[in-house]
Amino acid sequence: MQIKNICCIGAGYVGGPTMAVIALKCPHINVTVVDANPDKIKAWNGPLENLPVYEPGLAEVVNDARGRNLFFSEDIAGNIKKAEMIFMAVNTPTKTEGEGAGMAADLSYIEACARDIAKYSKSDKIVIEKSTLPVRTAEKIKEILEENSTDIHFEILSNPEFLAEGTAIQDLFKSDRVLIGGDETKSGQKAVKALVNIYANWIPKDKILTTNVWSSELAKLASNAMLAQRISSINSLSALCEKTGANIDELSKAIGMDHRIGPHFLRASVGFGGSCFKKDILNLVYLCKYFGLVEVAEYWHQVVKINYYQKNRFAQRIINHFEGDLTGKTIAILGWAFKANTNDSRESPAIKVCELLVNRGANLSIYDPMVQNQTILKDIECFWKIEQSISSNKIKLLDKFNEPNKYDAIVILTEWEEFKFIDLLSPTIIFDGTSINQNKNTISIGK
Ligand code: NAD
Ligand code: UGA
Repeated sequence: MQIKNICCIGAGYVGGPTMAVIALKCPHINVTVVDANPDKIKAWNGPLENLPVYEPGLAEVVNDARGRNLFFSEDIAGNIKKAEMIFMAVNTPTKTEGEGAGMAADLSYIEACARDIAKYSKSDKIVIEKSTLPVRTAEKIKEILEENSTDIHFEILSNPEFLAEGTAIQDLFKSDRVLIGGDETKSGQKAVKALVNIYANWIPKDKILTTNVWSSELAKLASNAMLAQRISSINSLSALCEKTGANIDELSKAIGMDHRIGPHFLRASVGFGGSCFKKDILNLVYLCKYFGLVEVAEYWHQVVKINYYQKNRFAQRIINHFEGDLTGKTIAILGWAFKANTNDSRESPAIKVCELLVNRGANLSIYDPMVQNQTILKDIECFWKIEQSISSNKIKLLDKFNEPNKYDAIVILTEWEEFKFIDLLSPTIIFDGTSINQNKNTISIGK
């Protein structure tokens, strides 16, 4: 099947970069990204320095393809109608109410997409799950598509995304693997082939793995759970290092040199953040419980519990340093993004750590090179009365970080390169939750 037009629903951290790369690598295909949020579409069509997603290399890719075969549009109906292939890259947060609240994935956005696809389609479509979804969601999507349309054949594929923020473009250019799950029927396999052919424009064939739909859906949740599990494992050991005089960096190195374990994802930290690890593991826990696998659910739940423990433990170390009372102390918070090289602060450990410090009386001066002030304020609003805080100087947002000596303590929460070397003349102390800082007076995780 020759694909000439792709539509992607969802112009977020996944939809924007993935479609920009497909458009760049497939100049013969028109790729249009649509979104229910018109401001986001405007920003994607606006100046390259203000794209809604900050990713190294993204602006260059958008610059090359935008207006040629990459488009951002508010016209959801028209672009669904025109496309032979539709990606769904909408958000799948944790449910906040109803059955499974606090654990299961909220599928309302994906269901709304499916209803739109059924409503506006006038010809057969390949519909692709790009969002991260619970295993067997394709069944539900098929049901919605079939109930809301007549005489149209929809083939559903699972093609989860494995990019990490901060390295998204690099990850998309040179993926470890592209995973495509499809039905074992003739039409299912035809659809799989059509999607394989798109990726084959730049991904070597041996890195394109095809499976059944359920394996593909579950492999995404399982991959994130395994990655997060390594972080929680090393973070749990960082607590033991602090008690025993072992050094977590030396431990990570020694463990990671075993080729069966490998060196990646063994960096001790204040805890993992980001919009996905926590929600995807909770979703996995929910699924296990749903299928009666209580022990399996408890095993994976522990990964998230250790992550809470680590954030609390780190904040408590700072609080203990000031003997439980931070009243009148001014603390510099360096880093608000959940990791370096992104402007994304969703589930950033900085949020929890700052809540705990403010509750003990601290004044905070916050600096991040990429996260917008309005995003930081919105995050703080979840735990503190923001207007009062700004007017009373309880919370200050800094445009740049200088004068390190004027603070009672400096707390590093994102591993931005610029936080590596901070020169201190005074007894100001640095607490580093990222293992990046080289100052010899720094108190780091696991040391
Ligand atoms: P996001 O919140 O950045 O973007 C989602 C976009 O979808 C939003 O702009 C929203 O307005 C839009 N949207 C929601 N419902 C819509 C609808 N019915 N019609 C049109 N637009 C709609 O989310 P994201 O970070 O891009 O994540 C998307 C999915 O990809 C999630 O399932 C996530 O788990 C998965 N994922 C994310 C990453 C990542 O690095 N962020 C990596 C891999 C997988
Ligand atoms: C993660 C996965 O790495 C991606 O493969 C996946 O596609 C994505 O989730 C998703 O599904 O959303 P991301 O969250 O963007 O990507 O970034 P990571 O590099 O995985 O970092 C996640 C968190 O773990 C960050 O807070 C980071 O600082 C922390 N981390 C990472 C550690 O604390 N230690 C490490 O060794 C590595």
